[in-house]
Amino acid sequence: MDKLLITGGQALSGNVAISGAKNAALPILFSTLLADDIVTLTNIPHLNDVTTTIALLGRLGADITLGDNMTVEVDPRSVNEHVAPYELVRTMRASILALGPLVAKHGKGQVSLPGGCAIGARPVNLHIHGLELMGADIVVEHGYIKADVPGGRLKGAHILMDTVSVTGTENLLMAATLADGRTVIENAAREPEVVDLANCLIAMGAKIQGVGTSKLVIDGVERLSGVNYRVQPDRIETGTFLVAAAVTRGSVTCTHTDPSLLEAVLVKLEEAGAVVETGEDWIKLDMQGCRPKAVDVTTAPYPAFPTDMQAQFTVLNAVAQGAARIKETIFENRFMHVPELSRMGADISLDGNNALVRGVETLSGAEVMATDLRASASLVIAGLVAGGETLVDRIYHIDRGYECIEDKFSMLGANIRRVK
Ligand code: EPZ
Repeated sequence: MDKLLITGGQALSGNVAISGAKNAALPILFSTLLADDIVTLTNIPHLNDVTTTIALLGRLGADITLGDNMTVEVDPRSVNEHVAPYELVRTMRASILALGPLVAKHGKGQVSLPGGCAIGARPVNLHIHGLELMGADIVVEHGYIKADVPGGRLKGAHILMDTVSVTGTENLLMAATLADGRTVIENAAREPEVVDLANCLIAMGAKIQGVGTSKLVIDGVERLSGVNYRVQPDRIETGTFLVAAAVTRGSVTCTHTDPSLLEAVLVKLEEAGAVVETGEDWIKLDMQGCRPKAVDVTTAPYPAFPTDMQAQFTVLNAVAQGAARIKETIFENRFMHVPELSRMGADISLDGNNALVRGVETLSGAEVMATDLRASASLVIAGLVAGGETLVDRIYHIDRGYECIEDKFSMLGANIRRVK
């Protein structure tokens, strides 16, 4: 199994090009199932989760053509299967996003129930409840969610989401585009990835109002056409590189990104003492050789501070001046990186969904183990600032969400390489 070997101590400097957003690319790839024609997507990141999604679309019968620079062409007209099998879904929970489009387009769909996950129980009851309100008959048996629409077409419904759910909103939004009548989704997620999906659906001919707000109004249409669509930049990858720059007291410019997608993160980085400059598609962070200051963080749905940046800010606070509290409100078990950081000398005490982090002068390199995608990013950042060598194990987690991470960090002057 691959590992990352990092020798810390270099202040990062230079430019890094940001890839397309994983959490926008996945729902947008699944939305191709709704179209009556070829959909061509660009700026798709080359990640394991994207590969899994493309394999799943192929398994359903879609015709896929991969072009240069990860341009993906999906022809959904040959879809003739309606089951997303366990062996694919168990590697990627986001496969649940096949359910809404399949049911809306073909009047039926079966998706293996995603199991538990390191960061939390992550049920899908809101996805199921919303589809039932739109007229689907759903049973969960033998580990599969089996949905069938008597009469073949979903109908519009008024859906109140008990909890803000990103993929829950995305699944029901996609389903509603082809439903008979109007659907209203209240307490919808407002994440930029939901907005990117909605914009792609509108480009395919969907009728959606309230994009970017917590109330989405969708008037169903008979059919959706093909489109050429460019996926937005990855705000979490951007944030990860900016935190790495801050922690190593360096100066880094992220290009091919969009500052408007991560305002809450930039505010916190400035609070930590970073000098942040932005342009239309770039962000420069300069620590001017200074040690970051500790900053309190509370995760919450967009536009508040993203949970997918929590682990990275735990490392920032672990080497910062002073102490700070990190409160995780989205997932019940998202501090798995803390025991590993403590092995590197971090001073962190956990109390339920709160972490009290007291900054230390330096961390020391160690062998550590990744437990989930963002936790693994935090361990890599810790390795970049720690004295000596750090060996990060189970990096298949990181390959799910970061494209060529060691190459990008090497270009910024880091001493990092993948070892077999
Ligand atoms: C999306 O997951 C992202 N994944 C996650 O990113 C991200 O952490 C999360 O949103 C929150 O921002 C993708 O977009 C593929 P939720 P999702 O449904 O949609 C509860 C990463 O690192 N809930 O918004 O699965 C749930 O348990 C990943 O890239 C229900 O109770 O998250 C959680 O506590 C990790 N019932 C809360 O809602 C449901 O039916 C928010 O989860 C659905 C969710």
